[in-house]
Amino acid sequence: MDLNEEIARLKRERNAVVLAHNYCRGEVQDAADFTGDSLELARRATQVEADVIVFCGVYFMAETAKILNPGRKVLVPDPSAGCPMADMITAAQLRELKAKHPGAKAVCYVNSTAEVKAECDICVTSGNAEKVMRAFAPDEEILFVPDRHLGSHIAGLLGRSYTLWPGYCPTHQIVTAKAVADARAAHPGAPVLVHPECAADVRAAADHALSTGGMCRFARESAAPEIVVGTETGILHRLRKENPDKAFYPVSDRAVCPNMKKNTLQNLCESLREMRVEVEVPAETADRARRAIEAMLAVA
Ligand code: 13P
Ligand code: SF4
Repeated sequence: MDLNEEIARLKRERNAVVLAHNYCRGEVQDAADFTGDSLELARRATQVEADVIVFCGVYFMAETAKILNPGRKVLVPDPSAGCPMADMITAAQLRELKAKHPGAKAVCYVNSTAEVKAECDICVTSGNAEKVMRAFAPDEEILFVPDRHLGSHIAGLLGRSYTLWPGYCPTHQIVTAKAVADARAAHPGAPVLVHPECAADVRAAADHALSTGGMCRFARESAAPEIVVGTETGILHRLRKENPDKAFYPVSDRAVCPNMKKNTLQNLCESLREMRVEVEVPAETADRARRAIEAMLAVA
């Protein structure tokens, strides 16, 4: 039996759904029941009725699904698929920062550990950060962790200044302003989309900074026959599949997240067969982190 058939059989047998992030390998996205950005995946996780969720993405995403579904089994094909940005701040470091800024609101990008979320007032994703941050009073002091680029992007849009933790995504660092300029020269007239995890000069050189879900919507709605995309290259599979009449070009074909790529058809199949590796979040941490995630979902 081929891997896809076995995955389909095991999904039925286990009453499982497979959720995959837009950066996963094409064949993993194709085997999934739902593919999306962090916000769409978090929302979908709240609607799951199956007994088991197999999460193909990086660890914090599976943790978020578990926090929102404490009663269900959440599995990851490879628990070593983490997000280096999420590991750039610990809960102890955040507590120290909060102690230096009494009264400030702590906001975390969803790319953070459950322990860090548990220390925060609210969470954001790249798909809803602008809307969530608009809900704060203009005089509220904000600590934004861990992504300094998403934080500065939103602060800039809202004309605000936040205390930014100096975290960043190593994969999006590969997308440079020079590469954007080269891509524009190679594809004149094509809109250039980049992810808000890109640095400020890269965002300034692009036409739009969008979440991966925002990029998919833009591609669907735009009349442009060619679109340049400055983010992790896994998104190209979905963009091309959903828009066969349009051409998509990466700003850099080296912008690959090695952790996302740890999800394969092989380990997805093993995960379903052996019902491992189970994601666990201690109840006290999960309860506190859930408040920050649910506060976000209530706004946007
Ligand atoms: P999105 O929520 O835009 O899919 O981003 C997730 C992520 O990890 C980007 O690096
Ligand atoms: Fe983390 Fe960057 Fe990979 Fe997204 S692309 S999961 S932010 S390392």
